[in-house]
Amino acid sequence: MKVTIIGAGYVGLVTGTGLAGLGHTVVCVDTDPRRVGAIENGKAPFFEPGLDELLAKARASGKLSASTSLRDSLKDADVSIIAVGTPSNDDGIDLKYIRAAAREIGEQLKSLGRFHVVTVKSTVVPMTTDTVVRQELEAASGLLAGRDFGLAMNPEFLREGCAVEDFTNPDRIVLGALDARSHEILAQMYAGFSCPMLKTTPRNAEMIKYTSNALLAALISFSNEIAQVCETIPGLDESVVMEGVHLDRRWWVDTGQGNRKHPGAVTYLRAGVGFGGSCFPKDVKAIFEFAQAQGAAMPLLESVLTINEERANRIVAILERQVGSLNGKRIAVLGLAFKPDTDDVRESPGMKIAADLARRGARVVTHDPIVTAEIATANLGPGVTHEASATAAVAGADAAIIATSWDEYKRLDWTAIARSMRNAVILDGRQVIKPVDLPAGAKVLTIGKHVGEART
Ligand code: UDX
Ligand code: UDX
Repeated sequence: MKVTIIGAGYVGLVTGTGLAGLGHTVVCVDTDPRRVGAIENGKAPFFEPGLDELLAKARASGKLSASTSLRDSLKDADVSIIAVGTPSNDDGIDLKYIRAAAREIGEQLKSLGRFHVVTVKSTVVPMTTDTVVRQELEAASGLLAGRDFGLAMNPEFLREGCAVEDFTNPDRIVLGALDARSHEILAQMYAGFSCPMLKTTPRNAEMIKYTSNALLAALISFSNEIAQVCETIPGLDESVVMEGVHLDRRWWVDTGQGNRKHPGAVTYLRAGVGFGGSCFPKDVKAIFEFAQAQGAAMPLLESVLTINEERANRIVAILERQVGSLNGKRIAVLGLAFKPDTDDVRESPGMKIAADLARRGARVVTHDPIVTAEIATANLGPGVTHEASATAAVAGADAAIIATSWDEYKRLDWTAIARSMRNAVILDGRQVIKPVDLPAGAKVLTIGKHVGEART
């Protein structure tokens, strides 16, 4: 099958590379010529574990190419997948890139000479595909969706940092199509997978994506709220509380034939410095605003957002109570990526905490295993120092905050770190330091535990 992907961001490129791996012939189209150049050279333009290898393979097999020309790339294509960005604006999400992509595809539809399925993969609120996108396509082509060309919405469930694994081993494929032929063609495109495939309408597919992300974000804010209560009461520990909650058999995984297995890790119930990234904050806000415009209030999701937005302030306030005025203090922030195994800093809690500390006059020193000094400075300004190692960042510091649960931080010699600090106060915002590694002589504040119980 020949597939054209529009927008080679992390979603578009991972999807395109994965489809090429399944044997399809894929062209990734992007307006950014540097991105296109990098892909043509077999190099991912951003960090995503396993992607460079998969990309190199796809390039070597001749199944994947990249281009800035949508027109040329659509020639003979069976399916186009729109994966351009959907930034937030005052009214919710900005559809200008989606509209532009739909218009441009629409202009080519007549000349394709074959049935073509236009598929929206970017996260869009319900009714976008079958109204906005449909209108753009029909107006530009003079054709009718569902009859002359196919139209579908196929959400992505790719977590950054494990997007390649999520693509190659999906838990579900949701195909929201306007017409039966599109369902069939997209099912063929994903024929290599054995996971459940849900065939539904574009509107349900759009809502499934938002509901999935809103539920996960709600679990995180719920955990952070429980942690806030635990922090006020001696003896409580949020991580133990959640472990107990998670032993409920209703959370167990069905392994077939009536057998169930405990999933082990407590997922999305980990309290921390809040959720970030390109999806949760934007998606929860978008569905909340969409529902409000429809006259359906979502007070639960409003609280999910408020709890998350206040998280960075709360973390800084906890620290301030320990070290006094932050003005002039050297504070190390470990972790600028919004989660481990990515260099993405969009809506990153670590960035927010560093910016807040700097605003309060602290001398902020940051570290991240892959986020570069250039990115740190571009986000935080030249007043913030970025160090190449965690040990250099914490040396001589009055306090340190762990904002991302990088494995590297789990393996650090925390006793040596504490010794190198001027004042050994460590706020473990991601429950990274194992109890056995707690450094003697340091004050370690763990999210979800009473502050008075900090080990000293
Ligand atoms: C995007 C959407 O923002 C998100 O809603 C969805 O769930 C997944 O896809 P992401 O892949 O992270 O997320 O987007 P981003 O990294 O911003 O990449 C978008 C790409 O599209 C960029 O490479 C950009 O250059 C390209 N683009 C954008 C175009 O090719 N054409 C345009 O008109 C606009
Ligand atoms: C998310 C969804 O998981 C994915 O299905 C969707 O398609 C895109 O959005 P992603 O944003 O890449 O993926 O990361 P995820 O691992 O879900 O984490 C998001 C944020 O929540 C991170 O900042 C993470 O640190 C935080 N988080 C996650 C918590 O604070 N606690 C948790 O228990 C889990």
